[in-house]
Amino acid sequence: SLEYSLRPQRLQEYIGQEKVKENLQVFIEAAKLRGETLDHVLLYGPPGLGKTTLAAIIANEMGGNLRTTTGPAVERPGDLAAILTSLQPGDVLFIDEIHRLHRSIEEVLYPAMEDYCLDIVIGKGQTARSVRIDLPPFTLVGATTRAGALSAPLRDRFGVLSRLEYYEPEQLAQIIKRTADILEVRIDEAAAVEIARCSRGTPRIANRLLRRVRDFAQVKGNGVITHALSTEALELLQVDRLGLDHIDHKLLRAMMEKFRGGPVGVDTLAATIGEEAQTIEDVYEPYLLQIGFLQRTPRGRIVTHRAYEHFGMEVPKS
Ligand code: ADE
Repeated sequence: SLEYSLRPQRLQEYIGQEKVKENLQVFIEAAKLRGETLDHVLLYGPPGLGKTTLAAIIANEMGGNLRTTTGPAVERPGDLAAILTSLQPGDVLFIDEIHRLHRSIEEVLYPAMEDYCLDIVIGKGQTARSVRIDLPPFTLVGATTRAGALSAPLRDRFGVLSRLEYYEPEQLAQIIKRTADILEVRIDEAAAVEIARCSRGTPRIANRLLRRVRDFAQVKGNGVITHALSTEALELLQVDRLGLDHIDHKLLRAMMEKFRGGPVGVDTLAATIGEEAQTIEDVYEPYLLQIGFLQRTPRGRIVTHRAYEHFGMEVPKS
């Protein structure tokens, strides 16, 4: 699909996350020199920063197949056993949202990760016995929004822990130009920078905005994404100059208008704006924390002065 072909296939083509990239480059090369599989890798950080892309790149670089599943999709230990026993030597198994794996399923993973084997119990009661099945050597790549949400025994079995950071606007502009190239649409430097500035440090958002702005360019303009056209389109898309969308606005406004800026608990906030608490925590809060619009306190979230300024609102007197 197009979505897939937009993704870089090699570490060389991957823009940003320099630390993560540099380390992976070394670990991949070392594993290849020794003729071994790469150690298990845990990728963590906010959504949309390229965890799935990196998993695919790791598989490509190591010359293995990429097998993909998600924590919630694995419902029983047998589901995971079926996947593990179908792996070929050197395959990369990518488990997205790995923190949502059930504990009983995690336990199947431990010996698989440590010794490339499965311990299966056959029968019940007195006649029950454990059978050991060997697995081919493989690399597990786990992805999660929060490393802290993983159980300690699972986290400890990853040899490589890589935290993905929000991208700098310059890197996002580079990604936008690369994507525009693939989509065969012309874009001005200033427009790329403008879209980058509104992308919340996130390539997934940058590429989505680029596609929407391209729609405007094709329908309302002459197909070229100019700076003027991009600002107009971003306004129509209701993306503000920091890239905050209507849900960010709803969240911050609710806190300022209904809770005097907090502190307010995430569950209360979730109920107020009709979003899931988990979504607020994993998707919306990290960036608002990053840009200093929100702070976490033991008593709940509070809105900062900076956010009041952004909305042109007065800070309530305490
Ligand atoms: N597309 C999405 N993320 C990317 C990245 N980090 N580098 C290059 N292209 C991308």
